[in-house]
Amino acid sequence: MKVRDIYDFIDGIFPFSSQAEWDNSGFQVGSLEDEVIGIIITLDVDDYVIENAIKEGINLIISHHPLILKKINRIWAEKYSTAIIYKAIRNGINIISAHTNVDILKGGLADYLAGIFKLEILGPLSKEGFGRICSLGSPITLEELLNMISQKLNIENIRVIEGKTKKIKKVALCPGSGGDLIEEAIEKGIDAYITGDVKYHQAKLGEGKINILDIGHHESEIIFVDLMYERIAELSIRTVKYYSTSPFKTRRLK
Ligand SMILES: [Fe+2]
Repeated sequence: MKVRDIYDFIDGIFPFSSQAEWDNSGFQVGSLEDEVIGIIITLDVDDYVIENAIKEGINLIISHHPLILKKINRIWAEKYSTAIIYKAIRNGINIISAHTNVDILKGGLADYLAGIFKLEILGPLSKEGFGRICSLGSPITLEELLNMISQKLNIENIRVIEGKTKKIKKVALCPGSGGDLIEEAIEKGIDAYITGDVKYHQAKLGEGKINILDIGHHESEIIFVDLMYERIAELSIRTVKYYSTSPFKTRRLK
C-alpha cells in the first residue's frame, strides 16, 4: 500500500476539500509513491514523534495539526521552525495532516468527543460546521459536568468561566481552540460550552452569561489519536498510537 492509498482512504472518510480556507490539511511532505512500512498517529508533529518513527522504522505520520501552516521561504536544518520538516524528509518520513476537515465533518473530532461524553448531538455550533450542540438526557449541575469530564478524559485541571445557570441541560463543545465561538454559544442558549484555549477577552465576553469550561487544547484533541486509529485499523497496516503530552504543566505553589 502506497502513501497515496492512505491519503485517498482518509480523503474518502474526511474529504480534504472540506477544510477551512485558512487551513493546510492534506499531504505535507514526502512522496505519494512511497510504499508504507508503518503508520504513527499523533496530534502534533514534533521532534519526539519523528524520533519515534525513526526508531520504529515507520515512514508515515498522520497528524491532526498540520506540520506546515504558515508560508515557508526556506527549509533549513538549523532553523528551529523548519528543522522537523528537514528531519522528516531526510529520514524518508511522509506526513499527512487531517485538521479542520476532521473537526467539521460527521464522525470527526467533535462528534467523537460528544460520544465519549455520551451526549445526544443536536447539530453543529457554527455555520461553518465547527463544534456541536448537544443535549444531556436530564439536567445536571456544573459540578457534576466537571467531574464527568475529568473522569472521562482523565484530566486534573479545568478552567471555568461561570455563567448564570447552575443547571446544565444544553451543552456545546468544540475541541481545540473554540474561544471565538463563545458569542455563538451565548446566542444559541447554551448552558455550558466545553472547549480549549480560551483567551482573556473571550472569557470576559462570556463571564456571567455562559458557563465556559476550558479543558485545554491538548486535552480536548488528543482523542484524535484514537479516532484515527480506529479508522486506519481497517487497513491492516502496522499502526502505532503516539500520545504526546501537553506542553503546559500546572504547578501548585500554595
Ligand atoms: Fe487543535
